[in-house]
Amino acid sequence: MARTGRAVEFDRYGDVDELHFVPQELPVPADDEVVVEVVAAGLNHIENFIRRGDFAELLPREFPARQGSCFAGIVKKRGSAVRDLAVGAEVIGHAIGGGAHATWVTVPATAVVKKPPHVSWEVAGGLFLAGATAYDIVRGLHLGAEDVVVVSAAAGGVGHIECQLALAAGARVIGTCSERNHDYLRSIGVVPVTYGEGIRERIEEAAKGPVTAFIDNHGGDNPALADELGVPASRFSSSEHRLDVEVRFITADRDDAEPAMILSALAKLIAEHKVRVLISGFYPFDYVQQAFADLAEKHSRGKVVIGMQPVETGPRSHWYLSGKARSFAESHD
Ligand SMILES: NC(=O)c1ccc[n+]([C@@H]2O[C@H](COP(=O)([O-])OP(=O)(O)OC[C@H]3O[C@@H](n4cnc5c(N)ncnc54)[C@H](OP(=O)(O)O)[C@@H]3O)[C@@H](O)[C@H]2O)c1
Repeated sequence: MARTGRAVEFDRYGDVDELHFVPQELPVPADDEVVVEVVAAGLNHIENFIRRGDFAELLPREFPARQGSCFAGIVKKRGSAVRDLAVGAEVIGHAIGGGAHATWVTVPATAVVKKPPHVSWEVAGGLFLAGATAYDIVRGLHLGAEDVVVVSAAAGGVGHIECQLALAAGARVIGTCSERNHDYLRSIGVVPVTYGEGIRERIEEAAKGPVTAFIDNHGGDNPALADELGVPASRFSSSEHRLDVEVRFITADRDDAEPAMILSALAKLIAEHKVRVLISGFYPFDYVQQAFADLAEKHSRGKVVIGMQPVETGPRSHWYLSGKARSFAESHD
């Protein structure tokens, strides 16, 4: 008997309550495509912006529209030309044109990479857009052991990955956040600095020397702050630049090999424990509206992810630690 799935759609621009489920049949892949049964999928601010219509000119949608750029799941069907991915393979991917918030997503085989066994489903599902954005921005700054870099919104879905990539490049990292995130940032080797009045003095005290680079995720007063700290313009990655990077990855087409290359590099870094992706909330699929609404509060610690299937989460062995945001405080009491 054919199974029926479901996909999240919206029929006009608007708030989270425009999202609803529609039934989905198991898709048939083209020759070069795979159908992946989605286990977990990440949520991103840009998806909220697109659905609200903020980017109606830049990223117009035809209705009914689907969303979801990041996913991890199990190959259910493959096209006749797909050789290197078997049915049953566990993969991490990016959904070209969206549509990952569904039971099944159909993508070119080149849009997925194999999921290392020790990378959990929720981490893999939330990896693509935040990870690729962080990777591209940190790579662009050519950070090294001589650098002191400030990362704004350092505990957020993108910021916490940027921090760890900057640390892996050898830099000292100062992360801006509120007090509630100090313990978490310290635990990954970042010097936390509370944002708000007096931030410049706090950063100067923490830096103990010149600040050589600045990654701004948040916008606001940060361009002026970077200028006051003496960061050269060439080493200031602006919030506008981040948006450009996100748009570049969300619109990457099937001939673009870079997203899969970056996904492979990130999966390797996670499997080697050089990057630990923190999950702020792992919501059942039914709670997709709530998950997007929580993300929009802008106080996530790590990534917000939805799960299409019940999965085993948490530590897989004594050496793999998946720090859960909501249990982090308890585990450090
Ligand atoms: N440039 C862009 O294209 C773009 C796109 C989407 C979002 N954003 C903004 O960038 C931030 C990070 O992006 P994300 O995808 O990583 O989102 P996210 O996961 O929602 O980021 C949430 C983090 O932002 C921090 N934050 C909130 N207000 C802050 C402030 N005034 N200064 C510094 N940090 C602040 C929060 O820390 P506390 O809980 O400690 O306050 C939280 O850890 C978001 O909060 C959003 O405002 C920018």
